[in-house]
Amino acid sequence: MDTFIITGGKPLQGEVTLGGAKNVALKLLVASLLTDEELIIHNVPEIRDVMLMIEVLTSLGVKVDRNGNTLTAKNIRVDQIQVPLDIGARLRTSSMVIGPLLARYGKAMVPNPGGCRIGARPIDRHITALRNMGAVIDYRSDDGYFHATAPQGLKGISYKFSKNSHTGTETIILAAVLAKGKTIIKGAAEEVEVDELITFLNSMGAKVCRSAPKEIIIEGVTSLHGAEHMIMPDRNEEITFAIAAAVTGGDITVIGSQRQYLSVFLETFAAAGGGYEAIDVTKTRYFRKNKLTSVDILTQPHPGFMTDWQAPWAVLMTQASGTAIIHETVFENRFGYAQELKKMGAQIESYDPKVSDPTGFYNFNWEDHQDGDHHAIRIQGPTKLHNAILTMNDLRAGATLVLAALAAEGQSVLHGVEHIDRGYEKIEERLGKLGAIIERQKEENA
Ligand code: EPU
Repeated sequence: MDTFIITGGKPLQGEVTLGGAKNVALKLLVASLLTDEELIIHNVPEIRDVMLMIEVLTSLGVKVDRNGNTLTAKNIRVDQIQVPLDIGARLRTSSMVIGPLLARYGKAMVPNPGGCRIGARPIDRHITALRNMGAVIDYRSDDGYFHATAPQGLKGISYKFSKNSHTGTETIILAAVLAKGKTIIKGAAEEVEVDELITFLNSMGAKVCRSAPKEIIIEGVTSLHGAEHMIMPDRNEEITFAIAAAVTGGDITVIGSQRQYLSVFLETFAAAGGGYEAIDVTKTRYFRKNKLTSVDILTQPHPGFMTDWQAPWAVLMTQASGTAIIHETVFENRFGYAQELKKMGAQIESYDPKVSDPTGFYNFNWEDHQDGDHHAIRIQGPTKLHNAILTMNDLRAGATLVLAALAAEGQSVLHGVEHIDRGYEKIEERLGKLGAIIERQKEENA
């Protein structure tokens, strides 16, 4: 486990280029199982989750070559249908191979998915939809695998997600493109990353369209072919740099800006005193415009304020005057970072807002909620943050603690850098170019 040593209190300034979107790259790679022809994918971020996905695919017979940020992937079919347990347990999206494996080989074994520790994160909605498509799926707790077969192949269905599921929607799309007949997904996730997957699959010969904001129709085809694609820049990185500019009193221009998909963030950022200037279609300058003031957040699936943004938002709120509430509705346990921010002097208390119908209100399954999970925090600001020894426990929490350490006075030590490496490519180099004093200590020296 590497460690970051960060000396904070320096305004970050300059230009930074966004990496490719993690939550697109992973799914495009899964699509390599759908064809025997070559896929060429550009702007693939060099991050740990992508490396893990490559390991998953390699174990399933896909030959993946990397040249910088371009990957070529070609399925050379080794008739392997089992995702190795140790990799699957570390990467939630590894379970998404189930659809392509069932559609093409009629069987699949995928581990109970792992990934970031931000709640139970079950895949019951994915499994129910796949069963409706004709898959027979048993979960065996003795080996930790979902054992799936599709004796008659997969068939098109009409399926309604009772609650939003981003990767659930994508899993069903990936299963339905080669299924027999038409699939209609209702209650489909609206995240822009889903639409990028649809565009890519269509370039491989699939027939997928978003027929209404929350409805996707897939006409199954018999085969798919190779394709080439450039992945969109990562909008989660963009909000991280925007907040970095505001909390350090700096001025950062983001190249590859995704403003068109960040409307809610930009409005909220401006309301809190953040400034942004559209320099051109793909460049946005971020800075602190006014005295920072508190703004409450309720996380929601796209097009709402995304759950991925709430942890970095908390750092901004430690610097804002007033009390800010962050109410997390998508995941049941995504405030692990609050304890760490408190070590730096942040004034944060956890609580449970009164909700009349939690089962309907929250996006997670209410029955997965555990005693001790809190669904909201109150941040009292502004606070002068000071240095501390911190531990990251998930990806966005990692970015959050880096932001806090950059804003704080003194030198902080951040353990668990592998979490931030899951989703941000060479973050210390890019922050360093903006003037941050940040050093990575490799495990053996840490
Ligand atoms: N859920 C279930 N059962 C299911 C599916 C989801 O209980 O079958 C619950 C989840 O546990 C969660 C909620 O429903 O509490 C929403 O889950 P969703 O399926 O929408 O999230 P996800 O697909 O697991 C993706 C992104 C997340 C992002 C969310 C929301 C990827 C690989 N992950 O997760 O990204 O926060 O959608 O947009 O695309 C991240 O990048 O840090 C990250 C966590």
